[in-house]
Amino acid sequence: MKKVFNEISPDKILVTGGAGFIGSNFVHWVVDRHPETHITVLDALTYAGKRENLSGISADRLRFVHGDICDEGLLDELVPDVDAIVHFAAESHNDNSIADPAPFVRTNVMGTFCLLEAARKHRKRFHHISTDEVYGDLALDDPHRFTEETPYRPSSPYSSSKAASDMLVRAWCRTYGVEATISNCSNNYGPRQHVEKFIPRQITNLLCGNRPKLYGDGLNVRDWIHVDDHSSAVWTILTKGRIGETYLIGADGERSNRDVVRAILGAFGESEDDFEWVRDRPGHDRRYAIDSSKLQNELGWRPCYTDFSRGLQETIEWYKTNKDWWFADKDGVEARYNSMGQ
Ligand code: NAD
Ligand code: TYD
Repeated sequence: MKKVFNEISPDKILVTGGAGFIGSNFVHWVVDRHPETHITVLDALTYAGKRENLSGISADRLRFVHGDICDEGLLDELVPDVDAIVHFAAESHNDNSIADPAPFVRTNVMGTFCLLEAARKHRKRFHHISTDEVYGDLALDDPHRFTEETPYRPSSPYSSSKAASDMLVRAWCRTYGVEATISNCSNNYGPRQHVEKFIPRQITNLLCGNRPKLYGDGLNVRDWIHVDDHSSAVWTILTKGRIGETYLIGADGERSNRDVVRAILGAFGESEDDFEWVRDRPGHDRRYAIDSSKLQNELGWRPCYTDFSRGLQETIEWYKTNKDWWFADKDGVEARYNSMGQ
């Protein structure tokens, strides 16, 4: 690993959760742009991870290890060999966390603890991927957005487990001197996102001849960012970020769920009101909104996908041409939602 001022150029990174949605997009992003970097992916291949998400990457750039981030022995084998750990692995879906929180505490809290201990023992740079949901929610008419100074106020078992993991990272950095950074990103969209999530669920509903489903009054707002912009931001923070700092990642993409559903229906040439109202999520956060000025001003990062409709259209095309990727998961996901009235 070369070190120039506070900039690093990692030769070898360990990417946890690299077979999931954001992790696999990050791996492809790095492979395409940084030929000097070798990646080891550690992934347990839960229902959300697929080995095929990493297909097409040559063995001299990528080593795939099927394993659990809570496996301390395995971490002792893998961590000494890398310059940095980029930690994406998590249980990531709010609705699942409400139905069964236990795996969220295990993977998100205990898993992050195990990785931090490995980073401490082997003195490795650590970047922790987190979510804006740790800040709770904003009212629709609140003029403020989340910043790095916003107090933590998580609502769901998912967001509270991520908040707990962020706190562990901060403590390991301050008390043990682990060279860590944290990023909290807004809602991602793009290829290879599991069909349980909002945008893929609605696209695949339409591809299956079903209507999109909106929770509650549909006015909840999410701040959408394309997954490639998340990847470029993570790389920027990993290589240029100040140790001990948190950076918020967002691309000024606030939209109500109803507007997103209408945009998807419009892209399919369907009537924009042809959706179904379903039961609301308990504790449903009203609005997320990110102010990413620190990342933009301090590290010079900028998003590329400033046109949501273009990113959405590309995402729809991806689900149309990759039916084999999602079709086997669809029935099970819908059966689970149906049983919850959603
Ligand atoms: P995902 O559910 O698509 O992927 C998670 C991956 O982690 C899967 O490949 C899974 O097999 C793996 N995994 C789960 N438990 C594991 C364990 N114990 N050991 C090893 N691997 C394990 O999730 P995602 O949407 O790609 O999210 C990735 C990260 O980004 C998470 O930390 C999440 O909190 C964060 N994040 C997500 C979003 C979003 O919009 N999806 C936004 C901000 C932050
Ligand atoms: P989701 O993709 O689960 O992300 P998060 O809960 O992390 O924001 O949901 C995004 C928004 O869409 C959220 O407000 C819940 C809503 N939603 C629906 O209205 N219908 C759906 O079928 C799903 C899955 C989510």
